[in-house]
Amino acid sequence: MDIRKVAVIGGGTMGNGIAHVFAMNGFPVHLIETKQEFADRALATIDKNLGRMVDKEKITSDQKDASLKNISVFLDVDKGVADADLIVEAVPENFGIKESVWKAVDGAAKEGAIFASNTSSISITKIAALTSRPDRFIGMHFFNPVPVMKLVEIVRGLDTSDETYAMVEETSKKLGKVPVPVNDMPGFVSNRVLMPMINEAIFAVYEGVATPENVDEVMKLGMAHPMGPLRLADFIGLDVCLDILNVLYEGFKDPKYRPCPLLVKMVDAGKLGNKTGEGFFSYQ
Ligand code: CAA
Repeated sequence: MDIRKVAVIGGGTMGNGIAHVFAMNGFPVHLIETKQEFADRALATIDKNLGRMVDKEKITSDQKDASLKNISVFLDVDKGVADADLIVEAVPENFGIKESVWKAVDGAAKEGAIFASNTSSISITKIAALTSRPDRFIGMHFFNPVPVMKLVEIVRGLDTSDETYAMVEETSKKLGKVPVPVNDMPGFVSNRVLMPMINEAIFAVYEGVATPENVDEVMKLGMAHPMGPLRLADFIGLDVCLDILNVLYEGFKDPKYRPCPLLVKMVDAGKLGNKTGEGFFSYQ
């Protein structure tokens, strides 16, 4: 089977980026959202980000138009996934939400469809077990901003078949991405390495070693990171960082992953980073 038609469930930051790259690389995309206003917002973001690529002469305005034409919106999961060969889920990182989505998808998708979750930390094996086809289930972990970042971390669950892996690897290459295979363990590789660094940067602020600005300057100028770890934490969302650290802490039962109390306090205060206008830095 060849992957031709793709359904992307969720039009948030990751979902709209994923729909953008599939559509831009010639795949018809069914973008599935729960409300028209969320779908409209996702399409407006895709339009803006394709426009950026036209301005930078990475694509032509004809390619932008063709990409937008490749996207159709569905407000009903059953209809949106029915004839898709690959279904990529990018709904919030909450097991209950993923459970209801995947049960609906399992009942409506055609035989042979491949199921992929963009989860950044929930076990692929555990989500796959919600469906009747864990051999066709895999993690396709994209990175924000999806149109820019080259990596797709491909996460193999316990039962993921070699055929499923091979098809997803080939499809990722068709998107111009670099697929890297990893096994299903808490945080996979990306967040197992990234989140302890971010957490340690927060501890450095908490313990008064340096200001957020200076922690980030050290990492940008000394280690050539494009963004400092605290700016990156704001960009990812401090609630997401906390959730991932908790997955690492509980998954490994190792105190080295304990979230910094300052991170917990900021999430309690609703200071979540870019999306709320304030985190370690202000985005008003
Ligand atoms: N769509 C299309 N193009 C975009 C874009 C988008 N959403 N966002 C940025 N760009 C393009 C810009 O047009 C620009 O293109 P050129 O190189 O041709 O000029 C390029 O990306 C760089 O953008 P800017 O010049 O505006 O800004 P910048 O140089 O400061 O780079 C950045 C921005 C790419 C975000 C850079 O700061 C960076 O790489 N940061 C680190 C991002 C990162 O680590 N992401 C992973 C987060 S972890 C995650 O996503 C997964 C998880 O599980 C938590």
